[in-house]
Formats: sequence, C-alpha cells, structure tokens
Amino acid sequence: MYTLKKNLILTGFMGSGKSTVARSLAKHLEHSYFLDTDSLIEHFENISIKEIFDKHGEEYFRNAEKRLFDWIKNDVKNAIISTGGGMPIFIPEIKEAGILIYLRVDFEEILERLSHEEKQKRPLLADTTKARELFEKRDKIYAKSADYIIHNKDLTHTVERIIHILESNKILSLFFSVKQEHT
Ligand code: S3P
Repeated sequence: MYTLKKNLILTGFMGSGKSTVARSLAKHLEHSYFLDTDSLIEHFENISIKEIFDKHGEEYFRNAEKRLFDWIKNDVKNAIISTGGGMPIFIPEIKEAGILIYLRVDFEEILERLSHEEKQKRPLLADTTKARELFEKRDKIYAKSADYIIHNKDLTHTVERIIHILESNKILSLFFSVKQEHT
C-alpha cells in the first residue's frame, strides 16, 4: 500500500476534470485523502461559488481562496488537492505547496463535456467569448507553473500517468499497517 510524501495539486481550467481525477486517485492511493478547494470555500462560506460571486463579487472570492490556500500551505500534508481554476493565476506561491500537475483539455472540448448545469455553476463561463479569451491567457500560466502537464482525455489514462509520475519521482512511500497479534 502506498501513501503520498507531499501534496499533489491538480490545476487547470474550469471543467478540465480536476475533481474527478482527484477522487479517482484517492481511491487508488488508499491512505491518501482528497480536498477540493471550491467545496471547502462553499462549506466555510455556507453558500455556493455562484452565490459568492453574485452577492460579494470576484474579489471577495479571491480573498477567501487565498485564506484557504494559506491554510493548505501551512497545515495540509500529503493530500490530493483539486484547485479552483483561478488558483495558479492569482496565487503564484501555489508552487510552494506541493507538486503541480496541469490537467490540460482544449477549450472546445471543455464546452462539450460540461452539462448545462455544470456551466451554470461557473460565473466565469457565462460568456463563451470571454471564457475562451480567459482560457487562452491562462493556458500559458498553467503550463509555466506546473511541474507536469497531462492532456486529460481519458480518466484511466490520466490516473495511470499521474501514478507513474509519483512512482518515478519517489513521491509515493510504502505504508505498512501493523497487524496486532492476539495471544
Ligand atoms: C474559477 C474556477 C472555478 C471556481 C470559480 C472561479 C476560475 O473552479 O473556483 O468559479 O477563476 O477559473 P473550477 O475550476 O473547479 O470550475
């Protein structure tokens, strides 16, 4: 059984599959756990991301995201972390919190993959033209900040690639569970 030796941080544009990949990886790496930054912010604020944007604006959201990041950087160890798409853009120190993997998916494919409901949850996807421009601007930043880039076309393949990266960089360590002997 294996466990992580440092945080594994998944980055990428909205809808690139970060949470799905994180959840699947956590199942493969039995003694690891996964965090989703958007879900944590929703939990702490007690409203959805969309409501945060609508009620308080983007700047308020970015401040909440930064506070959450500071907590992750100081207190979270050896976790699989699925990040909101703005994190590597607004928080360059993200690199200090673990190994970064950029899950890359073409913009047109993101639009095809996301259901209407999933699009509705993301205020920055409301205007497709603006979202495409944002993607083009951000793609380079995601790539530059990442330790690895994976073209996330197929979940099984992506998970296998990530496990291979972790193994070959010795980021996985054996986890021994000691069985109690009964006399
Ligand atoms: C954002 C991405 C969203 C969420 C918020 C802002 C962004 O997360 O954090 O709507 O700036 O790219 P996902 O990447 O999980 O959609």
